[in-house]
Amino acid sequence: MRNILCRVERLSVAYRTPAGMHSALKSVSLDIMAGEKLAIIGESGSGKSTLALALTGLLPAEALIEGEIVWTGPGSAPLPGRDIGIVFQDPGSSLNPVLTIGEQVGEGARHHLGLGRRAARDKAIELLARVRLPHPEQAVGAYPHQFSGGQRQRIAIAAAIAAGPSVLIADEATSALDTIVQAEIAALLEDLVQTGQMTLIFVTHDIGLAASLADRIAVFRTAELVEIGDAGSIVNTPQAGYTRQLLATHIDLDSPRLVGASDVR
Ligand SMILES: Nc1ncnc2c1ncn2[C@@H]1O[C@H](COP(=O)(O)OP(=O)(O)O)[C@@H](O)[C@H]1O
Ligand SMILES: [Mg+2]
Repeated sequence: MRNILCRVERLSVAYRTPAGMHSALKSVSLDIMAGEKLAIIGESGSGKSTLALALTGLLPAEALIEGEIVWTGPGSAPLPGRDIGIVFQDPGSSLNPVLTIGEQVGEGARHHLGLGRRAARDKAIELLARVRLPHPEQAVGAYPHQFSGGQRQRIAIAAAIAAGPSVLIADEATSALDTIVQAEIAALLEDLVQTGQMTLIFVTHDIGLAASLADRIAVFRTAELVEIGDAGSIVNTPQAGYTRQLLATHIDLDSPRLVGASDVR
């Protein structure tokens, strides 16, 4: 039996836009359990990233927030970057092109763990080895453009876990990658959360990936939580028509490519 790590209670988020308020989440309530792998799935624009940003406290200033996010663990709300690591879809945008890999991966350790320059560099090498980047000793002195997309995502993950967070949020972290690299990054995330005893919140539009990786799946559609449950129940006995529709077609929600239902594990 897992403990509740975080309670999301009637969370609504609306963005102020020149055209008026745009509702991105409508009264969403769910619990996040300590140590679980929770997949957030739904079509593009359904509010998945808004939820990820709300959990990390990184929503932009134009976001109007109602409801509550209550962290039930000991101490105060977790600090983004230290207690919650986040990895985004495009590692190109989260990595700074003019800083070395070592500086970027070591930054979290310097800032949150108070390590000096040398110790942070050693920590960066250790983290790069942990995300299985080849030749970590050389990599610390290299720049982002010297790596492939999959390698950059490994580097971004190393930076996200530098301060030893208890929660890792991956927002479409594998979506921009080739299928094989996608599977490798998914396996890496699974391994990291298991060995680091982290809670993984995994945003994806790929229900097949969610089914194979997650303990529980939350299904979103146009700003609302459609249903949430054990991955097995969601896949085998979905309650909502929308989830059944997703499973029946198993569409990769952001592209017109159709994938056979046999791919759903
Ligand atoms: N900063 C913003 N300003 C205005 N609208 C936004 C902003 N960020 C997201 N949105 C809108 O909110 C809705 C939910 O977006 P998002 O959470 O990014 O969805 P998802 O991650 O599921 O694709 C979308 O309609 C999107 O266009
Ligand atoms: Mg998104």
